Amino acid sequence: MLTESTVTILKATAPAVKQHGELIAGRMYELLFSKYPQVKSLFAKAPQNQPQVLARAIITYCENVDNLDTLTGALDRISRKHVAIGVTADHYPLVGECLLQAIQDVLGAAATPEIMTSWKEAFFFLAGVMIQREKALATQNV
Ligand code: HEM
Repeated sequence: MLTESTVTILKATAPAVKQHGELIAGRMYELLFSKYPQVKSLFAKAPQNQPQVLARAIITYCENVDNLDTLTGALDRISRKHVAIGVTADHYPLVGECLLQAIQDVLGAAATPEIMTSWKEAFFFLAGVMIQREKALATQNV
């Protein structure tokens, strides 16, 4: 589970992430596609508004971080899409690295080391939940 201080920091950061959500998501894709061009083909059929879709997902997570049960339905839908497209566990660290860098780039000095540590913890916590679900979906066809 996430620590109480991480939850507190994420909730406090939610308004800033909401304000800059699309910029953060746009920067994340820019970094992801330049550093790891091999993932680009996964997004070949993605809608034009994929950055906004990701931004909304990040914000929703941020706002519900202390009540993740409310996200189960949404996460299940995302995981089914990921499995259908071929997203695998080893893609998550790449996206995590670029998302964290994008948050740092967009929020600048406001993203203190403490805030960045909390985001890192939160991303990999969520990634763990999604990876587990996606592995189950891929192997059991549930
Ligand atoms: C915690 C991490 C992640 C979150 C919160 C997230 C969120 C989302 C959301 C909300 C969607 C849209 C689902 C829908 O259309 O119903 C999506 C789709 C997608 N995601 Fe993720 N994702 C994550 C990790 C990843 C990773 C690691 C990859 C691999 C590079 C990835 C690649 C994709 C692709 C290719 C699509 C489909 C785009 C399309 O064709 O519509 N995602 N994701």
